[in-house]
Amino acid sequence: MSTGFWGLGLERELRKVITYGSFDLFHEGHYQLLKRAKALGDHLTVGVTTEHYDLMRGKLNIVDPIMTRIDNVLKTGFADKVIVEDHEGQKIEDIQRYDIDVFTLGSDWEGKFDYLRQYCGVVYLPRTAGISSTAIRNKRQEIVRIGIVGTGRIVPRFFKETSFVSGIEVVCAYNPEVESAKAFESQYQVETWTGRFGEFLDGTDAIYVASPNETHSDYVRKALMAGKHVLCEKPMTFTCAEAVELYELAKKNGVTLMEGIRTAYLPGFSQILSVARNGGIGEIRDIEACFTRIGNPASREMSDAKYSGAFLEYGSYTMLPIIKLFGVDYRDLRIDCVYGKNGIDVYTKVNFFYDNRIATAKSGAGVKSEGQLVISGTQGYILAKSPWWLTKEFDVRYEDPLKIDHYESTFSGEDGLRYEIAEFVSKINGTGGKDYKLTASESIAMACVVEKFMEKRRAYQETLQ
Ligand code: CTP
Repeated sequence: MSTGFWGLGLERELRKVITYGSFDLFHEGHYQLLKRAKALGDHLTVGVTTEHYDLMRGKLNIVDPIMTRIDNVLKTGFADKVIVEDHEGQKIEDIQRYDIDVFTLGSDWEGKFDYLRQYCGVVYLPRTAGISSTAIRNKRQEIVRIGIVGTGRIVPRFFKETSFVSGIEVVCAYNPEVESAKAFESQYQVETWTGRFGEFLDGTDAIYVASPNETHSDYVRKALMAGKHVLCEKPMTFTCAEAVELYELAKKNGVTLMEGIRTAYLPGFSQILSVARNGGIGEIRDIEACFTRIGNPASREMSDAKYSGAFLEYGSYTMLPIIKLFGVDYRDLRIDCVYGKNGIDVYTKVNFFYDNRIATAKSGAGVKSEGQLVISGTQGYILAKSPWWLTKEFDVRYEDPLKIDHYESTFSGEDGLRYEIAEFVSKINGTGGKDYKLTASESIAMACVVEKFMEKRRAYQETLQ
């Protein structure tokens, strides 16, 4: 037990030390760090991070489950106590709760934790040179060489975000339009193909399809047939049958196919789903999800009446929580659109009817509305405000207006794209566990709604001719 105060030179019975880490793929650097940390005192507490916390702070692709990481720390014999670190600000709480004298970490953190000096001593220990979990992860798995199809707006972001994910490298790009391809090549110094899609594929293990919507499924099919893994922007296809065909093709060829609905891969969105399912709001009876963005009138979202518009651009987001929570077997569907001049949908509302449960997905490109997600249950409701599709926080509210549970779950980067990329890499390497964030049947179910929407909009457009 500690007595006295740090820094006053009073005699203490036990000098308590604390350190933290992920300790993924336990290595010599971890061992040496724990040994040195223990030598700083008499009692060592080791905080091991949860996967959720690692995700929030941008540490992606952790391989070992937390129990393995804890076991490995214990096996060294240096830790007297192991705790789990799962939230920002926990270090101050732990230091006070466990009456810690010395906080220590490796020298890669030099200066970052000086603010803890008001609570205890802070020591940065020399880091063991030449080894890290990241390096081991990269060595264990082949680097996925990914090629990008399309050189549009999202691509610079994709480039930047891949740099935060271990095990993937952008090696080439493809754009059939020579001018765009040239401009891209000179800006990003990445080999860019124009006419020869097969040759472009040859240099890759995987592709990211970010071309115009109507070209997605053809590129996906060709790549899967060539045995390449595919991450495809939403919507992947315009028909149910095509979505089924592509997932079957991926399965047959033993490759990964993933639809890029970013929200599905964010830690905060997973938390909304868990909280919704854990019974705190009772039985879920209604879901309302809304996403609107008024774009430039010349933009594809606002002008391409055949292959774009509100629903094709934003419907994947608004359908996602409904399909995730209520499932793929809705009893009935009703689609209503507000059309712009050329027959493009500027606002689309899809009502889903399940047994004793209802849901609405509202998507707008020319109508502005409150972009919120409300999940209503028999005991309370979840309210995630705009931009809920980039989930960072949400509330759970009840009959008693004074009772509000607030949840925060941040993520790293501006738009969370790196979580989708990290999931893709884990799936390719078979390290991601079961496929639950967005299953093939959920993606197919959304393609079936897209098909019905396309039929309806096409029929309306025919009346304009
Ligand atoms: N550490 C060390 N020497 C190394 C690697 C890690 O002293 N070669 C220390 C870190 O400074 C930290 C602790 O071990 O205090 C746990 O680090 P962790 O982040 O889990 O390990 P890394 O190998 O740095 O992991 P990553 O590559 O994922 O960042």
